[in-house]
Order: sequence, then structure tokens, then C-alpha cells
Amino acid sequence: MDPILTGTLKPKSLAVIGASSSPEKIGYKVVEGLIVSGYEGAIYPINPKDPEILGRKAYASVKDVPYVVDAAVITVPAKFVHNVVRECGEKGVKGVIIITSGFGEVGDHETEDAIVATAKEFGMRILGPNIIGVISNSDKMNASFAPFLPFAGKASLVSQSGALLIALDAASYSRGVGFDKMVSIGNMSDIDFADLIAYLSEDDNTSCITFYIEGLKNGRRFMEEALKCDKPIVALKSGVSAHGAAAAASHTGSLAGSSKIYEAAFKQCGVSSATDLNDLFDRTQALSLQPSMKGDNILVITNGGGVGVLATDAAEKVGLPLHFAPQDVQEELKKHMPEFGSAKNPVDLTGQAGNEWYYKATKFAFAHPWVDGLTVLYCETAVTEPQEIAEHLVRAIKESGVTDKPVTISFVGGERCDKAMSWLVSQGIPAYNSPDLSVKALAALREHQRMLKARASSAYVPEGIDTAKARQIISDARAIGRTALTEIEAKRVFKAYGLPVTGTELARSEEEAVKFANEIGYPVVMKIVSPDILHKSDAGAVKVNIKDENMVREAYKVILENSLKYKSDAHIDGVAVQEMAPWATEVIVGSVNDKTFGPAIMFGLGGIFVEVLKDVTFRVAPINVEEAMVMQDEIKSAPILRGVRGESPRDKAALAKVLANYAYMIHDLEDEIAESDANPVIVYEDGKGVKVVDARIILTKK
Ligand code: ACO
Repeated sequence: MDPILTGTLKPKSLAVIGASSSPEKIGYKVVEGLIVSGYEGAIYPINPKDPEILGRKAYASVKDVPYVVDAAVITVPAKFVHNVVRECGEKGVKGVIIITSGFGEVGDHETEDAIVATAKEFGMRILGPNIIGVISNSDKMNASFAPFLPFAGKASLVSQSGALLIALDAASYSRGVGFDKMVSIGNMSDIDFADLIAYLSEDDNTSCITFYIEGLKNGRRFMEEALKCDKPIVALKSGVSAHGAAAAASHTGSLAGSSKIYEAAFKQCGVSSATDLNDLFDRTQALSLQPSMKGDNILVITNGGGVGVLATDAAEKVGLPLHFAPQDVQEELKKHMPEFGSAKNPVDLTGQAGNEWYYKATKFAFAHPWVDGLTVLYCETAVTEPQEIAEHLVRAIKESGVTDKPVTISFVGGERCDKAMSWLVSQGIPAYNSPDLSVKALAALREHQRMLKARASSAYVPEGIDTAKARQIISDARAIGRTALTEIEAKRVFKAYGLPVTGTELARSEEEAVKFANEIGYPVVMKIVSPDILHKSDAGAVKVNIKDENMVREAYKVILENSLKYKSDAHIDGVAVQEMAPWATEVIVGSVNDKTFGPAIMFGLGGIFVEVLKDVTFRVAPINVEEAMVMQDEIKSAPILRGVRGESPRDKAALAKVLANYAYMIHDLEDEIAESDANPVIVYEDGKGVKVVDARIILTKK
């Protein structure tokens, strides 16, 4: 573990600079928080006038403290912070926790940057500024102005919003979700989410890392650290807005809201995405208390048909549909229910189920190798006592001897159920007041296991790539002041990365067009080649199905005429004559260079699917072939690629290779390609390959 980061977040001694005897001040609350939470390290209040604060000796400056100071919490007004940070450096403090607001968040980046530079000069780390502070149950440390330590547990929360951190601190009690640490991260001038993944992944008191994220500064580093972390990470990302995407020049750009790239990145690095605060708590509870789920078989035990059906519906929704339990499981379970019960799945013990049936069915089922995850549902009845049911369940789970698979519970009823569920959580068993939530919790645990497995797959390195050639084409275009490549140039770049583009020649005269068409073979397609006309169809500058020499001559004239009508001053390179690929399933592949995550690839079905339904999916580049297959399966129109209504399946393997090569290209040429599209790409029957019919590359501004 990084000793400087440890000194900052788990200090053995703490100075509070700006400590105050006035109870309404934050500098008072922090000292009080440390005392009340039982912090066992040394506390050094720093105040220029007061010799004693809250019964502790105070010093005029941190430099006057005659002992080692690991970290300092800063609560002086913004204008004094830089000076105080320098004093901390001179004193040999490892890290500063700057609660003070009034820096980058209000536009004063200059002071914030200067403070970071000073901290770097002394090898110090900075948490903040503009934060609540740091809280840790296992260190009995409330180094913040949050009122108390959270409900104790094994999750650790990092929040970009300070106010939300305080709210979640309080909510941890009412929700019964336990945390060890709560870290307010504020402006992230230095310590960021990636640092905290690295730190918390080695923290013995953290079993699940929970994030509230507004925006990452360096998406790639976040992904790298998340991929190294074995512990589950769950994140709620706010600020989901497509603002700015509309201005993008390429098709892909207009479809790529930043939230889509976040979603993709989280998926790729195994971060579980929460949809809202409730979901964040629910996932945190499951991921912090239970092991991951190694297979797909969920068994549901219930005393009520209704909740059983709700759980069944939820299982299907989360992609883990229930299957009937094997015969031996059914036969054993039948012994613990009346004649009219059901031992299939859900296992309905019926409303008559009491403590013993729950105990026996649970103990047997949890230990059975077919069961990968168990959820036990209970509806409050007049003949049972929820707390007793809970106790019998815990006994059954413990006595089963199973520790490597998850169990979740849902009690539906009133106050007695709520109390029993709080007790279950205190015993390490996630409990929810709705059956769908207990199934969703298992799905989150399954997702984590899948992620651990997926990340073991290797990186993809395509063969026969000619990077130098691609870069030459780009630099030639830049040399004449261009920021967009023509279709022909873009296709040559694509070809250098092994993408199967249609054969294309540039004709500068009618005669040349005829010559190329004869060479390529009819029918051909002809299109304008002009850096000033990106949307060629809109300009009437694309002609298809040209079958003979006369049609070539006619098309050549019409394309030039239409192009000049569309944009009279357009620079025209010539007319592309190209192989007309037979039509099949049309898809789009594209890229954007996202400001947080860098190059990201988009894939979707073409035509109406992309125009109207926006049925596309993203990944941060590069990706391997396996990931490319997953992309094809996750769009809504995936069945079309699999072959519907008697149509044969499409060549998904060839398409996966195209996607992986494309992703490799945009990553390799990150400095050159701002946006790009291969649209359309035609996907033929299985075994017959893929053709990239049109290509567009917009260059980065240099
Ligand atoms: N060294 C030590 N102590 C000093 C120094 C110094 N160089 N300079 C001043 N002090 C003392 C002051 O004398 C005062 O102590 P006193 O009460 O004995 O006089 C104490 O430090 C605090 O200084 P004040 O001028 O009284 O400042 P105040 O407490 O009003 O405000 C604060 C300081 C809290 C840092 C304020 O500037 C601020 O930034 N507030 C916002 C903080 C915040 O909300 N952060 C989280 C944002 S996230 C969210 O969503 C909520």
C-alpha cells in the first residue's frame, strides 16, 4: 500500500488547521467529530489565537507541533489554504484533507493548481478541496463535518458530492447498509477515484467499493485500476447528458452521449452500474456481504405463489431465467411441504410453511451443487413469526457449511418483517422488502463473477497492420490543410488496418471512370470525392447500380453537376468508381474520441435501426474478438444477425474481427482520428464475410 496515501487516509496523527472553539464552525465540528468517534491517534488543533480547543492543546501553526503529524484537515478560508499547505509540507505532513471550498469549482483553477504544485514539491497528497472529509469505522475516525460514523459494514463509499455523502451516512442506518469508510473526493485536484480503487482494493476492512461519480478526470486510469481490483465496484454515475453530442460531425458522434461511453467503460472494467440511489444501496448490500455467484442457477424458496412469480419475472428480466430444479432436488424438497406445494422452481412451501420447513428446505437446497445462488422469500402470515423464520434461515445457511455461494432474502410484510430483515443484515445476509430486489441482488453477484472471468481474456493484436501507411495518408491530407479524409483516403486507412473495404478507384475524367468501371466489373457505384461534401447522398452525388459504359458517362456528368449545385465552391478531387457490393444486412461501425475515455467504438444495425431507433452499443477501444461478439449480441436488433424468418445467420465471426480491427485502429491512431464511420458495412451469410462500403474519417485538430 502506498505509504503516503495511507498516511493521508489512515493517519496515526492529525492536525486540524482552522480548528475553532465556536461550535457553529466547521473547524469545531471536525475536532468534535474526531473526539466523539473515538479516534485513537493524536489530534492537534491549529489556531493562531486559541491555546486550547475542546480540551486539547492547540498550536498557532502546524510547524509548532513538536510531534510527527501524518495528515492535516484544513478548514481555514480559501485565501489562507495555499500558505497552510506549504507549512504542512515544511512540517513533513504526508497528506492534506482540504475541506475548504472556493477553488476550481468556482473557476479558481489557478489557486487550486498552485496548491497541487506545492503539495507535489513536498511529496504530499491532497484530498479535495471542497469536501466533507474522511470517515472510517475501523479507525474510529470521523475526520469530517458529517455528524457521525456510518452504520458499520464492509462497503466503502467514495462520493464526489459532499452533501450526498452526509445524506448517505445517515441513510446507512435507515437502510441497514453498512460502510467502513466514507471518503469525500470533491474537486479531485490530486487524489481521484483511480487512487482510491488502488487503496481500497488493499484495505482489509473493505469488501465492496461504492462510488457516486459526477465525472471522471482520467477514464483510462480508472478502468486500469478497476480491472486490477478483485473486489466488486458499484457506481452511480450522475449527469447523464448528451449535451455537445449534437454538434458532432460524424454519425457516430451524434449518437455518442458521454453517458453511453461511461456505461460501456463500466461494463468493460467490471464496474456494476447502479441506476439510482436505491439501486446503489441494494447492490452495495449484496456485493459487500455475499460471495459472487459462479453459475446461472438460481433457486427460489417461498411461502407465497405471488412473490414467487414476481421473483421469476425479475429473474428473466435480469437475464437469469429460472429452471426447474433437478429431480433429486425436487424429491427431497417435497418432504418439507404439503401435498399441494411445488418443488419445481420457485419452490413453494405454501402459506403453511413454518420454521422447520424453511430450515430444512433452505439447508438442503443451499448445499446442493445444482444451486448456484439461493433466494428465500417470505410473506408475513398469522401462523409464523418473522424473526423466528429469520433465525431458522440463518441457522440453515450456517449449518449447510456453504460459504462460496450467495444467498439473499426478501420478507414482505410490516414492521415485524422489517425488524427481522435488519437482524438478517446484521448476520451478513442481504435482505430486501421486495422479491425482485433479492433476485436483482443475485444478478449483481453473478455479474461480478462474469467480469472476473472476462477480464482474464487476452488483448487482441491484429496481423498485417500497416500503421506507417495509414499515418502517411493522414499526414498527406494534413499537409494540404485538410481536417477530413475523402472516402478513398479513409478506405485506404481502413485497409491498412485489415478492414475489408470495397475496391475503389479515383477517376479524374469520364474516360478514366469508364476504364476503372471496366476493370472493376459491372455493376459499379459512383460517388463524388470532395473534402467539402461529406454527406454525398444529400448532394445527389452517389449513383448506384451502374451497369454499362454509357451509364458511367452519364453518372460522371450528373454527379459533378449535382455536387457543384450543392456547394458551388467545393474542392473536387474526382469521382470514385467502386465495386457494388451485393446487398445483405447493413450495419454501422464508428468511433468518437471521448474526452474522458479516449477512442470508443460504436456498433449497431444500419439504416432505420440507427437513424430512428438509435440501437447502438459502445466500447472503449481497444477490444478483443470476444468483446466484439458480446457487442453484437447486446443490441436490441441482435436477432437479425442471428437470422430471423428463415434467413440464414450472418457472418458474426467476420464482423467481430472487423470490430476488433476497427477498435485497434482508432486506439492506434488516437492522436489522428477524432471521429470516424464505416457506414454501411454489409454483413453476408455465415462464412461469406463482410464489406465496408463507405468510409469517413475526421481528423483531430492539431
Ligand atoms: N491557521 C490556523 N487557523 C486559522 C488560520 C491559519 N492560518 N487562519 C484562520 N484560522 C482560524 C480562524 O481564526 C478561525 O478560528 P476561530 O473561530 O478561533 O477564529 C478558523 O480558522 C476558521 O476560520 P474562519 O475565518 O472563521 O472561517 P469559517 O469557519 O467561517 O469558514 C471554511 C472556513 C469552513 C473553510 C469556509 O471557508 C468554507 O470553505 N466553507 C465551505 C466548506 C464546505 O462546505 N466544504 C464541502 C463542500 S461539499 C458539500 O456539498 C457540502
